[in-house]
Amino acid sequence: MKIAILGGTGDEGFGLGFRWASAGHEIIIGSRKAEKGLQAAADLMQKLPDAKVTGTDNGTAAAAADLAVLSVPYWAQESTLASLKDVLDGKLLVTVVAPTGEKKSRVWRLPSGKSAAEEAQELVGENIRVVAAFQSIGAHHLTDPDFKIDSDVLVCGDKGADKQLVMQLCEDAGMRGVNAGALQNAIVAEGMVSVLIAINIINKAKSAGIRITGI
Ligand SMILES: NC(=O)c1ccc[n+]([C@@H]2O[C@H](COP(=O)([O-])OP(=O)(O)OC[C@H]3O[C@@H](n4cnc5c(N)ncnc54)[C@H](OP(=O)(O)O)[C@@H]3O)[C@@H](O)[C@H]2O)c1
Repeated sequence: MKIAILGGTGDEGFGLGFRWASAGHEIIIGSRKAEKGLQAAADLMQKLPDAKVTGTDNGTAAAAADLAVLSVPYWAQESTLASLKDVLDGKLLVTVVAPTGEKKSRVWRLPSGKSAAEEAQELVGENIRVVAAFQSIGAHHLTDPDFKIDSDVLVCGDKGADKQLVMQLCEDAGMRGVNAGALQNAIVAEGMVSVLIAINIINKAKSAGIRITGI
């Protein structure tokens, strides 16, 4: 697939881009500044010389892709989506966004009482289908091709076919995606980030994860 990673200059988006590029997907790294996207693409190509990776501004990336991944801080979600709504029309938007407060190890409650993913869905409207995934996957080891990620990915969304596609992307990135129900449930996946950060701090670790058992 041709995957645009909006905010793919940051650790999480870059790391996922690395994993998907390794699996043969075409990656377009988006940034607010085209030259920053280009630089990140060059960095990725240095790690994976045979991969198909380009970099540009977020709008051009979103317009060119089959699917877009939103990988910006929560406080940048609204402005980023407002400027990209038109070019994302009709596409699938995978959000990895997890709202965290100043103390990232404490679950932060959004004033709306909703998940960031539901807020994103409301911002873009029903022509763009939002699926939340990868919140439980820390960026730390994503660019290490030999590191086996020991965590499931909770995949939340309102359309089964979209979630199937995202679960395939999880597999391509070396992880198991678990269909975790409706987009509403993303509130739990997002809250899990603070829980995992706290567990990492307490255990002086870098890759705490989650496993769903019994399925
Ligand atoms: N890091 C992790 O381990 C991890 C794990 C799970 C989930 N997440 C979630 O994934 C998302 C990305 O994480 P990250 O660590 O990669 O974040 P980050 O490095 O702080 O930000 C990612 C990119 O977002 C863009 N950005 C920053 N401020 C912005 C603003 N005010 N307006 C528009 N764009 C802005 C920047 O790209 P440009 O400057 O190039 O535009 C930046 O490189 C976050 O929502 C985070 O909660 C992260």
